[in-house]
Amino acid sequence: MNIGGVGHGTRVTVCGASGGVGSYAVQFAKARGARVTAVCSAPNADLARRLGADAVADYKTVHFTKVVGEQDIVFDAVGRDSFGIVAPVLAPGGRYITTIPGASSVLASLASGAIRLATLGRKPSAHLVLVRANGDDLEQIAALMAQGRVKSLIDSRYPLAEARAALERSRSWRSRGKIVLEVA
Ligand SMILES: NC(=O)c1ccc[n+]([C@@H]2O[C@H](COP(=O)([O-])OP(=O)(O)OC[C@H]3O[C@@H](n4cnc5c(N)ncnc54)[C@H](OP(=O)(O)O)[C@@H]3O)[C@@H](O)[C@H]2O)c1
Repeated sequence: MNIGGVGHGTRVTVCGASGGVGSYAVQFAKARGARVTAVCSAPNADLARRLGADAVADYKTVHFTKVVGEQDIVFDAVGRDSFGIVAPVLAPGGRYITTIPGASSVLASLASGAIRLATLGRKPSAHLVLVRANGDDLEQIAALMAQGRVKSLIDSRYPLAEARAALERSRSWRSRGKIVLEVA
């Protein structure tokens, strides 16, 4: 969440809050003092609250942009939305951050770079994040885990020989947290 500059009181919405990426995003944002709205289906609402979410929006009954009010960050780990859809709820200088690479997220991210420069960061912007191994980040995460402020949510475990079943579970988009492949 470094790209978002999350701090105390930052208003953050996490789409896909019950999934492998989103369950960490909710906890990282809370650990930094953000006010978090989790977007997930109703059966996962309690889970999202246990992860620390202050509010939950059930995407099956209402689009989150109708209920969240102004947000500083929308973190999208699902990719059903786009910068264009989310921009109306972003505060001046607010950020739409997606983990889903694609033509629209790449273009929006490139265009935002230029717009941010031209407007000195006063307009909302779009960002595509790709995971890169980073020792400093991992140290911070390990510290949060040691303090019990961030936990790994495990959906299921599979031996390596059942990697296909693990992949099918992943493709189902129903996982609650991470899917673990165990290597003996
Ligand atoms: N950029 C990167 O470096 C990077 C790194 C890792 C992953 N990714 C990508 O990030 C995406 C998320 O990965 P993941 O592991 O978090 O996926 P995941 O764990 O499979 O996500 C499953 C979760 O998504 C929720 N969900 C499904 N449709 C939704 C919707 N319309 N709105 C809100 N929530 C919805 C489900 O909740 P419900 O059952 O409540 O619907 C479920 O809990 C994937 O596309 C993955 O490829 C990118």
